Amino acid sequence: MKLKSVYRCQQCGLETPKWAGQCPGCEAWNTLAEEVIAVGKSKPARASRPLAAAPSGVKKLSEAGGAALERIPTGIGELDRLLGGGVVPGQVLLLAGPPGIGKSTLMLQAAARLAGRKVLYVSGEESLSQVADRARRIGLGECGIILASETELDRILEILESERPGVVVLDSVQTVYRSELSGGPGTVGQVRECASELLRAAKSRDAVLFLLGHVTKEGSVAGPKVLEHIVDTVLQFDSEERQQLRILRAEKNRFGPTSEIGLFEMTEKGLREVVDASTLFLEDRQGAAVPGRAVSVTLEGSRPILVEVQALVTSTRYPLPRRTSTGMDVNRLFVLIAALEKHLRLRFDAYDVYVNIAGGLRLKDPAIDLAVCLAVVSSARDAALPPDRVFIGEVGLLGEIGRAGLMRNRLREAERVGFRSALIGERAAADLTKAGADSSLHILRAANIPEAVEAALGQEKNPC
Ligand code: TYD
Ligand code: MG
Repeated sequence: MKLKSVYRCQQCGLETPKWAGQCPGCEAWNTLAEEVIAVGKSKPARASRPLAAAPSGVKKLSEAGGAALERIPTGIGELDRLLGGGVVPGQVLLLAGPPGIGKSTLMLQAAARLAGRKVLYVSGEESLSQVADRARRIGLGECGIILASETELDRILEILESERPGVVVLDSVQTVYRSELSGGPGTVGQVRECASELLRAAKSRDAVLFLLGHVTKEGSVAGPKVLEHIVDTVLQFDSEERQQLRILRAEKNRFGPTSEIGLFEMTEKGLREVVDASTLFLEDRQGAAVPGRAVSVTLEGSRPILVEVQALVTSTRYPLPRRTSTGMDVNRLFVLIAALEKHLRLRFDAYDVYVNIAGGLRLKDPAIDLAVCLAVVSSARDAALPPDRVFIGEVGLLGEIGRAGLMRNRLREAERVGFRSALIGERAAADLTKAGADSSLHILRAANIPEAVEAALGQEKNPC
């Protein structure tokens, strides 16, 4: 076997024959590291082999495919929803997240429920007794998972060969290594090589493979590009402001949606699913009639969630007034402030504007625009909005209030949680009337920002 040196960027995975201070691919500095790869007859360059199990030839589209995908539910509702009902035989999933977030715990819980099939849990980070101990602590001591504490790729492949599991969990992809490669475990070369070997082994047996990966300080999985495009599904595990809350998102999903989120809480008995999420992000609703507060209903995937927008408008002490936002795009805030200035004839140039989405969600749904605008005006006027009302609608540059997707679901959720009225756009309200209302919320309508402000706060003169 011949050995050859190449240089690989530890950030983007680009391979170059020569060393350079800056990666020609992603332009990061000092990220190229030497790697020795095997070339020659005895060991063909593995990475260049095709990833699919067998060449499939050509077929007419109409004749290809066939039976619907077999779904294997993991039994964890929040995870299954994200996966589109469950995992598919041969699916390779990457579960990424910072250390300590709960990846091992989640996988152990999922593995226990999948244990009707043969499940192999390979832990490269913890000893067998540590894994068993944790399983016992979260009440999974008796399930039929097979454990292995192994970090060498060839050994893991041997175990796969002899045990023939239907589900494999590798915890974590950064701890496995192949001894022929010079880089240490966790380098891009090792991660890529090991992941693709395991992927091939799993796909050829129609086994489901979960790869657990730590994200680096910069927030990316080591060798992100290489892993993200070889796996079928990338799940990202994050914590939000509230320490115990864990949010699972699908960043890529070959067999299901990417818009859903899964919510969990870390307890002493492992991760608990948060099923009733809609009020999780509302601050205490009792003392709610405060200036600067507006509630909206956002969609995370298909799930309506009530969110509280908080705004603070104060006289500025800076030459350039400050605008900051947490939980929403600050550029969107700039646009909304400009729309308010134009259409309400307000001037915010002597005022700082701070906006916060309570609870730590990061929202992209434009339907919260109306709540943001009204929270800002409410703070500026120092007048509270009706606390039992929700505000839903996108605000356009011309000041008009637009529609919002799945309006009926949003309204139904607001009603269920105890809100009594909703202020929405004129057109959205007309759609509802046409379709026949199915909630008893009192619907107020506004075609544009001035009408919305009048409906919500009355006609009082604006101070700015
Ligand atoms: P872990 O699953 O080991 O995280 P990761 O694999 O992503 O590194 O979870 C680690 C944290 O979760 C650790 O700080 C302890 C906490 N934890 C609980 O609070 N309750 C539990 O039942 C378990 C198993 C862990
Ligand atoms: Mg772990």
